[in-house]
Amino acid sequence: MRLLLVGPPGAGKGTQAQFLAAHYSIPHISTGDIFRANLKAGTELGNQAKSFMDRGELVPDSVTNDMVKDRLTHDDVANGFLLDGYPRNIDQADFLKNVLEKAGTPLDAALEFKLENAEIIARLSGRRVCRGCGENSHIIFNPSKVAGVCDACGGELYHRKDDDAEVIAHRLDVYAEQTEPIIDYYRSAGLLRTISAIGEVSEIAARAIAALK
Ligand code: AP5
Ligand code: MG
Ligand code: ZN
Repeated sequence: MRLLLVGPPGAGKGTQAQFLAAHYSIPHISTGDIFRANLKAGTELGNQAKSFMDRGELVPDSVTNDMVKDRLTHDDVANGFLLDGYPRNIDQADFLKNVLEKAGTPLDAALEFKLENAEIIARLSGRRVCRGCGENSHIIFNPSKVAGVCDACGGELYHRKDDDAEVIAHRLDVYAEQTEPIIDYYRSAGLLRTISAIGEVSEIAARAIAALK
């Protein structure tokens, strides 16, 4: 299964990706997670991405495309992959198409998550992310057993800087202007599957699997 998830910030891509990656036994490749891991490790890539991420802007394609191309050469993508948060504009979608065509491994599906802005804001403003393993939780919708401590690894939970109200608003604009056009791109290619991202996490997962059959 070669799959990508597309949807606005806070749609639950990362939450569902963990489940779908396990279901299909494929690696979860989140460009946002890779940038945050690099930021934490203090790499050059992390430094390049930081100011864009903090402002809710896209990291330049020159940085992002090469990073993804490199990731797609790892051994673990032999059975497929799940891209989360990439591509995010038409140029990235074209770039990916080229890389996959050259490798003879075309995409199977683009799964679109749909939900309205009020729900997005509620999800992002209460989100907490683990410093250790990157897992997402939510102070109301999906709370950890002990406040501030990750259920999965015991790591410290933090509030992402780009989950502040002004940055969320800007990320929504960036999504509408730059990312939404890729939905028609994948629709035209016959690869788009759309599901509602509203409801319980398990319900949405079942919807996703059904849409991908
Ligand atoms: P990225 O990390 O990809 O952020 P995003 O796309 O804005 O998406 P999020 O991670 O915010 O949301 P999500 O859909 O994963 O939702 P989640 O599962 O966490 O990108 C960050 C930045 O990196 C970008 O702004 C950009 O700067 C840069 N970047 C990344 N990729 C790039 C690219 N390709 N090109 C250029 N720049 C790039 O869920 C959200 C919350 O809701 C959580 O708290 C969760 O617990 C809760 N939740 C989940 N499901 C439910 C549910 N069903 N009901 C209630 N709550 C739920
Ligand atoms: Mg995410
Ligand atoms: Zn953790």
